[in-house]
Amino acid sequence: MIAGTGRSAPERVLTNDGFAAIGIETSDEWIRERTGIRSRHIAGPADSVTSLAAAAARGAMEAAAVNAGELDSIVVATASPDHLLPAAAVELQAALGASRAAAFDVNAACAGWIFGVTVAEGLIAAGSAETVLVVGAETLTRITNWKDRNTCVLFGDGAGASIVKRASRGRGILSAYTRSDGTLAKLLWRPAGGGVNPVTPEALADGTFWIHMQGREVFKHAVRSMADACDRALDAAKLSSDSIDLVIPHQANIRIIEATAKHANVPMDKVYVNIDRYGNTSAASIPIALDEAMRTGRIGEGATVLFVGFGAGFTWGSLVVRF
Ligand code: COA
Repeated sequence: MIAGTGRSAPERVLTNDGFAAIGIETSDEWIRERTGIRSRHIAGPADSVTSLAAAAARGAMEAAAVNAGELDSIVVATASPDHLLPAAAVELQAALGASRAAAFDVNAACAGWIFGVTVAEGLIAAGSAETVLVVGAETLTRITNWKDRNTCVLFGDGAGASIVKRASRGRGILSAYTRSDGTLAKLLWRPAGGGVNPVTPEALADGTFWIHMQGREVFKHAVRSMADACDRALDAAKLSSDSIDLVIPHQANIRIIEATAKHANVPMDKVYVNIDRYGNTSAASIPIALDEAMRTGRIGEGATVLFVGFGAGFTWGSLVVRF
């Protein structure tokens, strides 16, 4: 079960109108109509995946009344770690002083938190953990090409954290579904910066170091895969969409969210939306939304929540959770 949640976002906020000042030819109207985004948080010099993840984790641990020494595992979902080696999770472990925890990352891009919670559930089922911290944390704006208006208007930074414990009294994960299709990897990727095309001055100059995306193609696959994920998780939980109290989708684009809700036959007032204030924070988007929903009373005891995500890879998945 999800025993506590937390979130954190950098203080600095960039509104759509702010792009003009950094020389990007766009408009508030274009961004709002195409994506639903109005503003996003941007990491400042003092922010990092570790600092944002640690702040979110402290909030989740407090909410769950768990201290760092009780964590058996730490799973960090991120596509923008502070270092390529070692994992972001061990940096978080050190920041929290969670000395007993086994710490590792999950890179499933924007679906990362769903994959992370699924892994946490598996660790608990296998008997190797009782208390798992799952964090989605990103500083995507540091791997974004700030000269490419097709992508730089979309992303934001932040972290969301959740404490996962063994299900009790009917509360917990009712179903989990995860899928991937690596044949489509190059529709959303970073061509350089890894072992095959290391970072070079050329890779920085020609933009291959940064995120590349074929937006229209990604859009189509996102709509299709999010719909598939909703169906699979509901089927596996033997529930119809009427029994869902809230849908928390990955926040990539309001039109993708609306298409997903329509497919799942869930009215928009049962769908949590905060893309207007955060943009796409990748693995952090769902756990940030979850924490907002918890703290504003949108999720009460006994509520049944459908989580659904999609990201680079492609990766996609869903969870049905009873709180
Ligand atoms: N401001 C103004 N114009 C822009 C722009 C911006 N920020 N970005 C692109 N444009 C222009 C393009 O240059 C293009 O102009 P052209 O027709 O003169 O060439 C035009 O807008 C349309 O571009 P297109 O890419 O076809 O727009 P779109 O309707 O597909 O919307 C996205 C673009 C990126 C918003 C949309 O494709 C999308 O959301 N895709 C999914 C992205 C996503 O969610 N990724 C993460 C998945 S986890």
